[in-house]
Amino acid sequence: MGEGHLPVLVDEVLTSLAIGSGSSVADCTVGGGGHAERILETTSPHGRLLGLDADRAAIAEAKRALARFGDRVTLRHANFESIYDVAVDTGSVPLDAVVFDLGLSSYQLADPDRGFSFAADAPPDMRFDETSGLSAVELIDRSSERELAGILATFGEERRAGRIAKAIVAARAEGRIVTAADLAAVVAAAAPGRPGGADAGRIHPATRTFQALRIAVNREIEVLTAGLVGALAALRPDGRMAVISYHSLEDRIVKRFVVRESRDCIEDPLPPVCTCGHRAQLRAVHKGVITAGPEEVRRNRRARSAKLRVAQKLA
Ligand SMILES: C[S@@+](CC[C@H](N)C(=O)[O-])C[C@H]1O[C@@H](n2cnc3c(N)ncnc32)[C@H](O)[C@@H]1O
Repeated sequence: MGEGHLPVLVDEVLTSLAIGSGSSVADCTVGGGGHAERILETTSPHGRLLGLDADRAAIAEAKRALARFGDRVTLRHANFESIYDVAVDTGSVPLDAVVFDLGLSSYQLADPDRGFSFAADAPPDMRFDETSGLSAVELIDRSSERELAGILATFGEERRAGRIAKAIVAARAEGRIVTAADLAAVVAAAAPGRPGGADAGRIHPATRTFQALRIAVNREIEVLTAGLVGALAALRPDGRMAVISYHSLEDRIVKRFVVRESRDCIEDPLPPVCTCGHRAQLRAVHKGVITAGPEEVRRNRRARSAKLRVAQKLA
């Protein structure tokens, strides 16, 4: 791994989290350690970092990349849905700040054996944690056409979900989906990009299908909500959380979480007298999202779709 992954919006994350010397921070998606390294420099000389990743290879890479920080770093192979328990077990609670940089890293995308990319000459696995759950190819094998169409429509917001699901099921029956590249070719043949359409030539026709399968196998929607709840519980009063998301489904979850946790009453419609007992625990630090400037996007394509939201736990 090493040099291939540039951390996204890293200066904006550091500034928004308002961390400094001695802060204790959890990086829930430590990956190759890009954000973590900058956090450790900023919190030097005594600040501590708890790094989680669902991918064992990422933890091994972070260990190598962050070795110079010695015992200021604690790394755990874990899904961030259990951030609260991991933070308690490692003596990291209360935390001053928590970071989520969602999705997959450039290393995972570039590793042909993981099957994340359209060109991969290996079965589409797509799990962050290869030791648990179903791979994408197993999910395809076990799903009906209708279930597949539902996954593509819900998690990929794919308008041509029905047509693509039908083509995948037909290709599967003929044994034509062995590699991720085979899957991408089946999708591209069933639903080629519209010539002259908004996306023409810019994104691969299988982009939404691959996104949907990845979200499904990693239970990304479910674990994100659990992770945000756990992070909020692990933060100290006035502590901050920063979340970088890369597609609208994720960002919607983060936005709704912050809005919900910023309100005293969450009944809908608002009653004259609150009976739900919910109390606001957060406030959004910025109005709306922070996105990357043209210079960062030029240097790092992954920054194109990044949206950063930051919230502070109320005292
Ligand atoms: C965009 S990369 C993070 C890169 C990192 N910020 C850096 O600068 O090197 C996202 C990482 O999050 C991990 N990941 C995704 N979902 C996860 C989850 N639910 N729990 C733990 N790690 C997760 C992926 O395995 C991947 O390594």
